[in-house]
Amino acid sequence: MNAPEKLPLFALETWSAQQLDEVERALSRWVACPAAAPAPAGLGDAMRYAVLDGGKRLRPLLVMAACEAVDGNPAAALRSACAVELIHAYSLVHDDMPCMDNDVLRRGKPTVHVRFGEAQALLAGDALQALAFEFLTPDDGSVDAATQARLCRMLAQAAGFQGMAGGQAIDLASVGLPLTSAQLHDMHRLKTGALLQASVMMGASCGAPSQAVQAALSAYGAAVGLAFQVVDDILDVTADSATLGKTAGKDAAQQKPTFVSLMGLEGSLHYAQQLLARAHASLSELEATGLHHTAALRALADMLVNRQH
Ligand code: IPE
Ligand code: IPE
Ligand code: MG
Ligand code: MG
Ligand code: MG
Repeated sequence: MNAPEKLPLFALETWSAQQLDEVERALSRWVACPAAAPAPAGLGDAMRYAVLDGGKRLRPLLVMAACEAVDGNPAAALRSACAVELIHAYSLVHDDMPCMDNDVLRRGKPTVHVRFGEAQALLAGDALQALAFEFLTPDDGSVDAATQARLCRMLAQAAGFQGMAGGQAIDLASVGLPLTSAQLHDMHRLKTGALLQASVMMGASCGAPSQAVQAALSAYGAAVGLAFQVVDDILDVTADSATLGKTAGKDAAQQKPTFVSLMGLEGSLHYAQQLLARAHASLSELEATGLHHTAALRALADMLVNRQH
């Protein structure tokens, strides 16, 4: 009998570098500096500071990987990847402001409000959010109108009251409160999970996925979305500020309910691995539909759960 064929190892770093090369160039070209109409009064500097030179770019990578899995439109994927990163960057700018988490360090640099002042940080966030939707609606014929509308709707839902903004509201209202497991899950699903899941589903929407493909990818996105915030809560306790590029230990200091406060460090580590297994199982379901370009999605789930920062 022949030995089973060995699958080639997937080189996540090489694949990511290729994807991000395009994403970084697009962000740098498009954020706040069109030659004809650059952003006024220093707003462009604050926007670029918030978006460029930093961040793991996990959301853009999820978009690109999901688009690859369904063999979708690369132009739509690139715009979606940039759009989700803009929403994410805006959410971080506002999350760090004194009225929210009051943080001074982000992506290894002073936060936007420390560097540019609170009003400029507020406006940079506003402008980044609007710019995300401009990215999704090009008028050059590269993305058809129905796809544009679908992508806008998905991103709006993930960013707004049914997603990130709603989750942030629960986060702020929960300070000092002992949340139940169900309440904590709801909060994390909204504040972080929604945008990560939307990244996957927007990537898929750049193609024409069947219902079975959508279901498998949606389950994958839900698992990695939740796992991501469980790990964020863990790292807040276990990592140092230099490694994280943001202030460590602040969840306990600010009495935020987290997975670590609910189930302890060991319990949280175990739960993150359970969620990773769930993500892998969803990808096996995806493969059962006949799609086989799942290596990037699989490697991203591993990286996202086992990351050190
Ligand atoms: C941090 O997200 C904020 C959360 C949603 C928990 P990331 O860990 O993806 O931050 P960057 O983009 O790499 O800075
Ligand atoms: C923020 O969650 C989630 C967002 C929507 C920005 P955290 O407040 O835990 O994020 P970090 O730890 O400051 O990055
Ligand atoms: Mg916060
Ligand atoms: Mg925060
Ligand atoms: Mg955190």
